[in-house]
Amino acid sequence: MKILTILGARPQFIKAASVSREIAKHSSIEDIIIHTGQHYDENMSEVFFKEMNIPQPKINLGISGQTHGTMTANMIAGLEPIFIDQKPDLVIVYGDTNSTLAGALTAVKLHIPIAHIEAGLRSFNMQMPEEINRILTDRISQYLFCPTTTAIKNLDNEGFRNLDCEVVFSGDVMQDSAIYYSKISEDKSKIISKLYLSKYLLCTVHRAENTDNIEHLRSIIKAINTIHKEISVVFPIHPRTRKILEANAIICDAIMIDPIGYFDMIALIKNCLLVISDSGGLQKEAFFFKKCCVTLRNETEWVELVEGGFNKLAGIETEKIVLNVHEMLNTNPDFEVNLYGNGQASQNIVEHLINQ
Ligand code: UD1
Repeated sequence: MKILTILGARPQFIKAASVSREIAKHSSIEDIIIHTGQHYDENMSEVFFKEMNIPQPKINLGISGQTHGTMTANMIAGLEPIFIDQKPDLVIVYGDTNSTLAGALTAVKLHIPIAHIEAGLRSFNMQMPEEINRILTDRISQYLFCPTTTAIKNLDNEGFRNLDCEVVFSGDVMQDSAIYYSKISEDKSKIISKLYLSKYLLCTVHRAENTDNIEHLRSIIKAINTIHKEISVVFPIHPRTRKILEANAIICDAIMIDPIGYFDMIALIKNCLLVISDSGGLQKEAFFFKKCCVTLRNETEWVELVEGGFNKLAGIETEKIVLNVHEMLNTNPDFEVNLYGNGQASQNIVEHLINQ
């Protein structure tokens, strides 16, 4: 079986690390990685391939940083001749980025089956580019690998049972990566001593709906500055967020650092008091390492974290964020629950594909 795996953005590298390692155990599968180029900085892309031993992409299209439509269209134009030339039996796409949708659309137009890993998630907010990407990708995929039972329910509600596709509960591949790289990160990451950290909160902000609305961003940064007066906030900053802060002269007092690799991120999560983030992946990673999260959004795809008291949706209002941070610093939920499968999602996925 010949598989083309389409990657482009940071969280996809983390997800693919575990699946590609599992695929490599099977000599009957050839896995060719194509990088769209969506993320291109060394510490947004290359660092993950090196640290996590992900096979190097065969081709990097170098497409990034345009408007959503242009980016997606250019990716399709770049992927199509590769798919025609390579004639894969299957295309694997991950998550909900523009690279995901581009890979899926290219494949479906050529009648190549698609496996969507992290299928069925919904925020029910059609303003988010990610929600559009996931709904469309799910609809045209042949194999929908769901990380949660909520994802299965979402697809049921949308009538996927009546469609010619397979909906499979696989568990979460990010959990596989968290488990596998946890110990390695302890050996490799020096970030805690390098930054002289003891008590701190970990914060990330990069979602378009938060960064592209300057008032939203101002409100979030005001909250971070308020919290930082009390407890240090460490803020690995996405390049888009840095550019917008600088362009609008918004001052953030937190400990701002460049984007970091996976090992440093695991170390920062494990040692922090609490995570504050608008990232989908980080909400779960906080949970994997038994940390609570205050989410800078009004809704989440990971509703089980909110229901279980591990996550609070704070939105973007300064007072609410500060209040929720204080509340979450004083809670101690029981993390011994299984929300994301058995830690063998990658194995479940690859076995399912092999047994077709
Ligand atoms: C993308 C995904 C988002 C995911 C995030 C993970 C979409 C619609 N969004 O958002 O779902 O959570 O990745 O990080 O696909 N930039 C750089 N260097 C880089 C990458 C980006 O400078 O290596 C800058 C560029 O100015 C670019 C901007 O960041 O224009 C935004 O990048 P883009 O790939 O459009 O979206 P992300 O915000 O990274």
